[in-house]
Amino acid sequence: MQKYTSQEFNLPQEINGISSKQIEEHLKLYAGYVKHSNLIQEKIELLLQDKEQNSYIISELNRRFGFEFNGMRMHEYYFEQLEEGLKEINPESNLNQKIINDFESFGNFIEKIKEVTKTRGIGWVIVYFDKKQDNLNISWVSDHELGQLGGLQIILAIDLWEHAFMVDYLPNEKGQYIEKYLENINWEKVEKRF
Ligand SMILES: [Fe+2]
Repeated sequence: MQKYTSQEFNLPQEINGISSKQIEEHLKLYAGYVKHSNLIQEKIELLLQDKEQNSYIISELNRRFGFEFNGMRMHEYYFEQLEEGLKEINPESNLNQKIINDFESFGNFIEKIKEVTKTRGIGWVIVYFDKKQDNLNISWVSDHELGQLGGLQIILAIDLWEHAFMVDYLPNEKGQYIEKYLENINWEKVEKRF
């Protein structure tokens, strides 16, 4: 069983609108998801030594694994997008061509993302590429795993848990956080996923 390790992120010294304290606290939570992904796997191995006695517990841990694992992976997308600071989308890139094809303009695409971020509750807004349908899809995922679309490539992931912004913003200032987060994205990183 191979252990998961925490990724190091090459984040800029200053991120406009998101404080280093906010990032620091958020990275601690990320490390927690890595730790618990490993711990659950270890616990399952141990409990399997007495399968009959532990069957219910093993099932519940298997159910929980998706929460911890996606908690880990989704944060890796989230922080990678901020690495090396803002870079605007390359108008010539395949991703930009696809955005224009599906949403008519980059501005419309961003507005559509903002619409989906208004979904109430904790979770993520994810831009996927659906290879089978050949389109971009903007969806809401509750927690880290409920509503993930099977087999679609994640292009962009925005954390909408309150922990992502509440060092800097009040609960009713979620919109300001989203504005700022979107202004700091390194689109070169996002283009590479497409
Ligand atoms: Fe988070």
